Amino acid sequence: MNDDKDWVRIFDTTLRDGEQSPGCTMNVDEKLVVARQLEALGVDVIEAGFAAASPGDFESVRAVARAVKGPVVLSLARTREADIERALAAVDGADKPGVHVFIATSDLHLEHKLGMSRQEVIDAAVWAVQRCRRDVDYVEFSAEDASRSDIEYLIRVFGEVIGAGAVVCNVPDTTGYAVPAQIRELFRTLRARTPGGDRVVWSTHCHNDLGLAVANSLAAVEGGARQVECTINGIGERAGNTAMEEVVMALDTRRDHFGVTSRLSTKHIYPASKTLSKVVGVSIAPTKPVVGANAFSHEAGIHQDGVLKNVLTYEIMRPESVGRLSNSLVLGKHSGRHAFADRLLDLGIDLTHIDVNDAFAKFKVLADKKKEIYDEDLFAIVAEEHEVDQRFELRNVEVESTLNGGPQAVVTLAVGGVESRRSAGGDGMVDACFRAIKELAGIDPTLESYQVKGITGGTDAIGDVSCFIRVGDIGVRGHGAHTDVVMASALAFVDALNRLENRRARSISDDARTAAPVVGP
Ligand code: KIV
Ligand code: ZN
Repeated sequence: MNDDKDWVRIFDTTLRDGEQSPGCTMNVDEKLVVARQLEALGVDVIEAGFAAASPGDFESVRAVARAVKGPVVLSLARTREADIERALAAVDGADKPGVHVFIATSDLHLEHKLGMSRQEVIDAAVWAVQRCRRDVDYVEFSAEDASRSDIEYLIRVFGEVIGAGAVVCNVPDTTGYAVPAQIRELFRTLRARTPGGDRVVWSTHCHNDLGLAVANSLAAVEGGARQVECTINGIGERAGNTAMEEVVMALDTRRDHFGVTSRLSTKHIYPASKTLSKVVGVSIAPTKPVVGANAFSHEAGIHQDGVLKNVLTYEIMRPESVGRLSNSLVLGKHSGRHAFADRLLDLGIDLTHIDVNDAFAKFKVLADKKKEIYDEDLFAIVAEEHEVDQRFELRNVEVESTLNGGPQAVVTLAVGGVESRRSAGGDGMVDACFRAIKELAGIDPTLESYQVKGITGGTDAIGDVSCFIRVGDIGVRGHGAHTDVVMASALAFVDALNRLENRRARSISDDARTAAPVVGP
């Protein structure tokens, strides 16, 4: 592991910690789409999930382990036999399999969550690492809540797991409580004082509760960490995890300061960010560094003047370096299939995993309606390719409204291939549509959120609608894109209903297959 000293490994946990973000759960196919983006980026490690959490999680880890070549593929596991066996079985077949075991080390967690003594935690951690090492060489150990743990105890824990065979020691700031100077010092101390500390890669894993996850991760690198755990767009529980694009570009842009950088192919950052955003239906704030819509636009006249004279006046990195191509006219209705496919390739979209003919047909329909097709439109078209099984299919929507109210919608929906039509009124055209769809589908979910976004400028822009619906414990999102926002809304609602049906079917089969459910630590 000593040869890892002059580069920073990127450990992506979008598919595990990121997926714990409300509304960001992904099915197997969606996880594969994201995993392929991670492979194109060249991340070093993919944490594909927590195999013991459910049969669905197990299947996702297994699918990613088999699909991806290059990165190490890990499953998370607690220090329990059942967890470790599930993790090992799920990553079996990976090019580079591994297991990530964790247990909490702060007194707070020991007393209130685990009910274990310090020695019991050490015994469990050592046993778990040794058990994993019987089957795989790559074992990472995480001391959950490390940043709030007693440093002397932490040194003992890490020393013991290194002796047991851990190759990566991860030091999480689980609650996002730490500040950069403290993290930097923590890594310096751990590296200097842990027995065997020079034989392992030290890793940082920060949460963003105080908005410090990226700063803390960079401070960890200054303190000697050589692995950063992060997620695309910083998704994750509560305020999220370290944003991969920010930490990677900070290391890359300020290599003069850090003296190390990652080995990522940064031109895949933007496609990965857009793909994730489409897959989970969570939009990116315009001011978000690196990937936000405004991250490279210059509004103030004085800035524009400077940039025109020399881009370096106000730009510290080039948009192209993160895969942002100029968002000008790229294709039009006369563009052929070849130009279309070339553009998708330029955007980092892997053509082997989409139906190019179908996507091209959708592009032609859109190009007929819109004069200008932007990259954003292409991402929307391609995201539609990763559809779920469709029990409900929207066949037609007719709407009518006047200035004085009384909106009416007539919807034609096929349910399991059988078409019917229903009209309904509502508080607006979208509400009327949703009411008609609910009656036709025979499902009455709660609509928890509804968002409309114009993907590109202009009144002929594609409207991108995301909604989140819930029935009981199951909450799902749906999205739809169309030049007409009412149609986009109806498509999003039907998409959500299809996802709901799939989730219900999956949880029935998960329940049937789970003989003994796993309980939390
Ligand atoms: O935040 C955390 O402590 C974790 C561990 C499981 C690594 O996600
Ligand atoms: Zn975490």
